[in-house]
Amino acid sequence: MHFELSEEHQLIRQTAKEFAKSLLEGVIDRDEQAKFPYDHVKQMGELGFMGMMVDEKYLGAGMDTLAYVIALEEISKIDASAGVIMSAHNSLVLYGLQAFGTDAQKEKYLKPLASGEKLGAFALSEPEAGSDATSQHTTAIDHGDHYLLNGTKNWITNGGNADIYIVIAQTDAEKGHRGINALIVEKGVDGFSIGPKENKLGIRSSDTHSLLFTDVRVPKENRIGDEGFGFKFAMKTLDGGRIGIAAQALGIAAGAYDLSRAYSKERKTFGKAICEHQAIQFKLADMEVEIEAARLLTYKAAWLKDHGKPYAKEAAMAKLYASEVAMKTSIEAVQIHGGYGYVKEYHVERLMRDAKITQIYEGTSEIQRLVIARDILR
Ligand code: CAA
Ligand code: FAD
Repeated sequence: MHFELSEEHQLIRQTAKEFAKSLLEGVIDRDEQAKFPYDHVKQMGELGFMGMMVDEKYLGAGMDTLAYVIALEEISKIDASAGVIMSAHNSLVLYGLQAFGTDAQKEKYLKPLASGEKLGAFALSEPEAGSDATSQHTTAIDHGDHYLLNGTKNWITNGGNADIYIVIAQTDAEKGHRGINALIVEKGVDGFSIGPKENKLGIRSSDTHSLLFTDVRVPKENRIGDEGFGFKFAMKTLDGGRIGIAAQALGIAAGAYDLSRAYSKERKTFGKAICEHQAIQFKLADMEVEIEAARLLTYKAAWLKDHGKPYAKEAAMAKLYASEVAMKTSIEAVQIHGGYGYVKEYHVERLMRDAKITQIYEGTSEIQRLVIARDILR
């Protein structure tokens, strides 16, 4: 067991850090105006960040989950919206296609997605099915050579900008979760429309939309895995997704901490830098400890996945802990900045708003606890 990153992983951190500097410019405006970072997403594709864990034969970068976590942390330190755009695309769309897709699906969909030419979205949640994900109301009725898709998905990340969607839907209600399928749907097909963009508290430059399906014809060859595999597909995909969100949360926490430490050395009160007051020192010490603990949990989950070992519980632990650390650290970061923390120019108020979502999406903190508890009590 060793705790040093390989040269390759250090290089990835350096590359992601360099790229993240370019995200800083305009980040406040993109947040305020809820503007999608088109140019940056294109650049992320060129750098291999939009196909990080996909084999090179499918035009991915062929890296491991640890590399992915490192890059996501660095990007999310500066811009957590770019972080979730990358995470939903890599973890929720590419992973599932590579692991469970057919050769034809990989040729047609995985290649343009992994090269960064196209963007993906993953649609599980519905107005009546968020945490309770088995209670799907969207239907995909079997019509021989195709399914007819009807229903509404909501809260879909990359919803307006994606080209390719993985949509979860109920085919056979009598079979419950064993009657659910995962289907690949292309933007622009008849009957598929996209609802207005949500006006959010945080991660504002990532676009979130509902998706509406009315008699959308989806060819059978667009089903991922065997008939009825859709719910397990979603759960297995989310196990990896939770490592991505843990890394995003880690980035938010680490970004808020870096800003706070630097500010505490500059800002003077009562004749000395505020970092010389023990109250501020203790906040910084807690941040350092908690961020490192979150990082270790996240790296461990990534390591387990990379080594073909079970990782569902560890991914839930990493996501649960890192998201709580992101929230707590970013609140304390605003506190350390005093009044300056409350305005946009100092970035920490945005990180605080961004942190909240990491406790909600890809399974709320309550659902992570449920997943962990079921595993340890099994
Ligand atoms: N891997 C494989 N199979 C799994 C699994 C896993 N991790 N977790 C559950 N399953 C299987 C179970 O074995 C069971 O199958 P069998 O009956 O054949 O054994 C089946 O799935 C149903 O499981 P449960 O009985 O445990 O189902 P449940 O109704 O009690 O709920 C749950 C399980 C964990 C709460 C699940 O519904 C869940 O994860 N909910 C949260 C949903 C979520 O995370 N949504 C995120 C949407 S994507 C997103 O948010 C993206 C973004 O922001 C960017
Ligand atoms: P509910 O399930 O209604 O939960 C409400 C509250 O009850 C929560 O506190 C929850 O923890 C608690 N609760 C529910 N059940 C239990 C229980 N059994 N025990 C204890 N407490 C419980 N979904 C996608 O499919 N794809 C995406 O790309 C995507 N992106 C998102 C982006 C954003 C910005 C947002 C806000 C959401 C996104 N989601 C996406 C949806 C997200 O995964 C859900 O919002 C989340 O899973 C919670 O579901 P819900 O909102 O319906 O809350």
